[in-house]
Amino acid sequence: MLSRNNVSLRGKNILGLEYFSAEEINLVLDTAKEMKNIIHRDIKKLPTLRGKSVVTLFYEPSTRTRTSFELAGKYLSADVVNITSSTSSIVKGESLRDTLLTLEDMGVDAIIMRHSAEGAAEYATKVVSPVIINAGDGAHAHPSQGLLNLFTIRQHKGKLAGLKVAIIGDIAHSRVARSDIWGMRKMGIEVHLAGPKTLLPRFLQEEPGIFVHDRVEDAIKDADVINVLRIQLERMKSGLFPSLREYARIFGLNKQRLALAKKDVLILHPGPMNKGVEISPEIAYGLNSAIQDQVQNGVAVRMALLTLTLTGGKNNEITD
Ligand code: NCD
Repeated sequence: MLSRNNVSLRGKNILGLEYFSAEEINLVLDTAKEMKNIIHRDIKKLPTLRGKSVVTLFYEPSTRTRTSFELAGKYLSADVVNITSSTSSIVKGESLRDTLLTLEDMGVDAIIMRHSAEGAAEYATKVVSPVIINAGDGAHAHPSQGLLNLFTIRQHKGKLAGLKVAIIGDIAHSRVARSDIWGMRKMGIEVHLAGPKTLLPRFLQEEPGIFVHDRVEDAIKDADVINVLRIQLERMKSGLFPSLREYARIFGLNKQRLALAKKDVLILHPGPMNKGVEISPEIAYGLNSAIQDQVQNGVAVRMALLTLTLTGGKNNEITD
């Protein structure tokens, strides 16, 4: 049932799900559900963001996140410009601050930013006035990925509260894991974490609703959802596990391990996948996999974020 509330994301910088309330998360998920219908239309266009300009500013590689933000903006009639570090004045040594100021001078309404430094998006909010959406800052946060994971889980399970989710793999370097943990706890999901000891963050501690396991099997047991993470070799300064083969054997999601979860367990992976390492191909493309749904839902969730931050959305209606 729809009810009115004072929840609004208008003008809000999207830095991490730690700054979201459960009501705000629900508002994004409900708006994304409406937006998803547009993606299936023959003519994918809404006038919502006509006259608004959006820049994607990516200092790290991306396929899904950048493309889905770009398409989200275009489906909503915004003017979207993409900047990557390799093809801009960043290669000439221009600082992040100057790049941001340049974009602000050009009248940009929102900057969607990915950077290898934790806190880069927050820094941007201190320097310029356009809405800043964090599309990944180092190992800190990736809020739109956390939201699309919640959306995908709700789509398949019909609810969020009370579910058991296992997050397995390279937790230490994963901004997806951090955004998942924040978002899932706010929505009443029980989170079970497991991975090699060297890939579990040192500060990670059990607290109500968060459980840390030594063995992947213990995290997966009776899980409703398993979110598999990629080994982020690019963020490791030295070898943190013996070999990829060894990792696959002890921590990879295979058929035997999958059998420990609930029969209708949902498999998530943010992509890109290292198939045969953290996940076997038969599971990645198997019946329980929602990995393709995640990609499509990513466009819908990003359409919702752009609409809500740049226009405030439709009368701030949210679902109870
Ligand atoms: C993730 C990222 O960049 O943090 N990917 C994504 O956004 N789809 C996870 C990853 O790179 O492993």
